[in-house]
Amino acid sequence: MNVTGNVITPSASRHADLLVRGATVMTPSGAERIDVACAQGRIVALGDLCGTWSAETTLDATGLHVLPGVIDTQVHFREPGLMHKENLEAGTRGAVLGGVTAIFEMPNTAPLTLNAADLQAKLDAARGRAWCDHAFYVGGSAVNAEQLAELENLPGCAGVKVFMGSSFGDLLADDDEVLRRILRHGRRRLAVHAEDEARLRERKHIAVDSADVRQHPVWRDVDSALMATQRIVRLAEESGRRLHVLHVSTAEEMAFLAGRKHRVTVEVTPHHLSLQAPECYERLSSLAQMNPPVREQHHRDALWQAIRNGLVDVIGSDHAPHTLVEKARPYPESPSGMTGVQTLLPMMLDHVHTGRLSLQRLVDLTSAGPARIFGIEGKGRIALGYDADFSIVDLRAQRVIHNDWIASVSGWTPYDGQAVTGWPINTVVRGCCVVRDEALTGEPQGTAVRFLESWSQETRGESDA
Ligand code: DOR
Repeated sequence: MNVTGNVITPSASRHADLLVRGATVMTPSGAERIDVACAQGRIVALGDLCGTWSAETTLDATGLHVLPGVIDTQVHFREPGLMHKENLEAGTRGAVLGGVTAIFEMPNTAPLTLNAADLQAKLDAARGRAWCDHAFYVGGSAVNAEQLAELENLPGCAGVKVFMGSSFGDLLADDDEVLRRILRHGRRRLAVHAEDEARLRERKHIAVDSADVRQHPVWRDVDSALMATQRIVRLAEESGRRLHVLHVSTAEEMAFLAGRKHRVTVEVTPHHLSLQAPECYERLSSLAQMNPPVREQHHRDALWQAIRNGLVDVIGSDHAPHTLVEKARPYPESPSGMTGVQTLLPMMLDHVHTGRLSLQRLVDLTSAGPARIFGIEGKGRIALGYDADFSIVDLRAQRVIHNDWIASVSGWTPYDGQAVTGWPINTVVRGCCVVRDEALTGEPQGTAVRFLESWSQETRGESDA
């Protein structure tokens, strides 16, 4: 490796496939005015490369910021079985148009993703159709608990996801004995949708009797979320397993989780950070309906506080499309979930613009955080030898989000008509520019996300201790 001034190159080679010039680059050391050279999908040089490097393609990114590729660790792309709502091609197209370079997809498809063949079918369906890199969760349930240790280590598997409360689809593990079996079989961080099924059933009459979507956070109340989160943490402590609690929505859970960071990582969604009850239900009706629900301002404030104090590890979109016709059914027959993969970065950049969040913290939540907590290989930072995944954004660009920009088969966003400042301009996946000047270009070339080979061995040492 040669080190010349601030230019680091692995060899004497000075020809790149892609050179990104003139931008401010968000490196692990902070914002730097440097160029980035990429070859064979990886970053091969960083620094002032002017005059010393040539490239097949040069991207002049003057005035823009280069972020490490955004990794959205919670999306529902509905393929197979529910492709009238979404599919892998449209879902990943929306991802790259929104500046996302890798996604983890959820198992509540039809069929559910419960075994090696289900996982392989998703990987096969993604080949040649996925615009970004991808990994798929296997669902944890009573029928496959004993196979999970093997399943979670298959290539392309993001880990195991458990639904403790029913949301959409038939995947459910609400019984302590089943949860114990799931927790015992496997080493990777277990991802959990924490709402207490028994309490949801007991209180469903609130939704049915009112037929009013404003009652959604009353039916699925704070205790529904808190009881499930406390229960799964207790069970994980028994078995020495680490957890990832998805879409945390309450101040009470954040207070509880603050003392459990040695075992538990935390996700929040842009929806819970950007929308607020009751206003969102009055304005958007069931378009704002998701699980766990969007809640009142003091919960939203607590989520922001948890971002500021480092408690939150990742932002996941929980992109969960349903068609407008389905959403128009009378509540509570209207399904829960909204699109989000394409608006994750624009909405969060707007929060950066308004001063709620620093750009460095955003990078930690959307790139470094996912790589750190899920053991993703070669992604999550702009550094020599890492994958050349970039979300190149204009922090000053003003745009209005519209439904007709949304690539999802469902074709809508809760942010239709919303003005934002900060926008993804170019998206680069392993050195291929798939969005250039806000337009799709090239072919879908996404491949499976790689996880650290030694991941299961390393974590075994820790959890057995
Ligand atoms: O609102 C939701 N919808 N929350 C979930 O966790 C699942 C999702 C879906 O799949 O529609």
